[in-house]
Amino acid sequence: MKNYKEALQHPIFDTIAKASANLELDSYVIGGFVRDHILQRKTAKDIDIVAVGSGIALAKEVSNLLPGNPKVQIFKTYGTAMLKTEDIEVEFVGARKESYVENSRNPKVENGSLEDDQNRRDFTINTLALHLSPENYGEILDPFNGLEDLKSKIIRTPLNPDITYSDDPLRMMRAIRFATQLNFKIESSSLEAIAKNKDRIKIITKERIVDELHKIILSDKPSTGFKLLEQTGLLGYILPELIDLKGIDEVEGQRHKDNFYHTLEVVDNIAQNTDDLWLRWAALLHDIGKAPTKKFSKKVGWTFHGHEFVGSKMVFKLFKRLKMPLNEKMKFVQKMVLMSSRPIVIATEVTDSAVRRLVFDAGEYIEELMTLCEADITTKNPKRFKKYHNNFKIVRQKMIEVEERDHIRNFQPPVTGEEIMDTFNIKPSREIGIIKEAIKEAILEGEIPNEHEAAYAYMVKKGEELGLKSS
Ligand code: CTP
Repeated sequence: MKNYKEALQHPIFDTIAKASANLELDSYVIGGFVRDHILQRKTAKDIDIVAVGSGIALAKEVSNLLPGNPKVQIFKTYGTAMLKTEDIEVEFVGARKESYVENSRNPKVENGSLEDDQNRRDFTINTLALHLSPENYGEILDPFNGLEDLKSKIIRTPLNPDITYSDDPLRMMRAIRFATQLNFKIESSSLEAIAKNKDRIKIITKERIVDELHKIILSDKPSTGFKLLEQTGLLGYILPELIDLKGIDEVEGQRHKDNFYHTLEVVDNIAQNTDDLWLRWAALLHDIGKAPTKKFSKKVGWTFHGHEFVGSKMVFKLFKRLKMPLNEKMKFVQKMVLMSSRPIVIATEVTDSAVRRLVFDAGEYIEELMTLCEADITTKNPKRFKKYHNNFKIVRQKMIEVEERDHIRNFQPPVTGEEIMDTFNIKPSREIGIIKEAIKEAILEGEIPNEHEAAYAYMVKKGEELGLKSS
């Protein structure tokens, strides 16, 4: 039998082995930790332990043996316990048999053997278990040929996939997430079972679905996951806005691009340049306004007028529906969607004032916006590809020049409201807003530099035009 002792270098394993011996029970490390060790992936910070006996009692004994006796958190309903040491989280569960009822993903649980426990797990690659008893320390238990599936990069369920997915429909998302993260293939009967059970996803909470979506989005090639979600029919339940982008219409010989596949290319592109989850979400949603704004006219062909604005409004509804945070993260995504065409529009004719306005409007997120726009270049024509990238280089260069001169990025009005009130000896009033806005406009247009002296002189002039008298 193969031995993976070298995976068990963390001192916690030794402690668990001792605790198991004290309680005279067998214990195993199972699941993601073993899988990721064999794949030589960065191993997860959480470790799952199965005890053939009480997981809670084992957790308590481990805590007794550890310096400082870390707190054991007990989840009675699930019969599990959790313990945190400095750098890892260890979850303990008693080996169990599970049976599920139709409309819930919470199973009925009975005590069982290690094999029963491996049976109830999601994928063969997640059933791999390493023995922690002193005599068999590090030996692998692999009843479903999980090692073979790791080697051939296959996602397969230990039981009939219909049962595994119907028992816990979240596993449909997990299958697709693992396929995406690990670049594995989902075995065909599994894929069919997902398509068949897709509407069972409705019993899964939005939070869990979104957790899996985040992991897909954060992988190296998110398109793999979204294509699988689309192919199995799950995407329609989760992000119907993306399904609406699918397809190419043709009227009088004029076609538009398939905005679903374009979007996926943009997400893959941006994944090469940023790990920012919310910027990747922005890439995924940047074109969602195109479905409701699509129009054809003989004169100009296909248009999507105002899709950025419509899209940014849709972001709110989508976040709300999926119970995602309606906070500054959402506002950031909205802003990116709203501004997603701005750099493209100015790139053809880069003027100082257009760049100043872009930097002013994007504020602290100008870098993210440029990253999004560069990822949006998906043309297959090499000449155009080069030209568009070059245009953005020019925009970036201009941004640096303008920023050095005018400091627009974190724009602070060079003349304050108090100064205006003092100068004209007036109380808070509408005029102050008008003057401040005029100064800002003059700076953005390049009529005056972003400096106090010039802005002060401009203020005096503007105030006098409004009939105010400077003191
Ligand atoms: N598991 C399962 N069905 C689920 C969730 C988890 O069978 N719906 C089992 C799998 O054996 C899995 C283990 O519980 O390996 C631990 O689950 P979890 O920590 O969620 O996943 P990992 O496999 O550790 O992977 P990751 O950390 O990447 O999520």
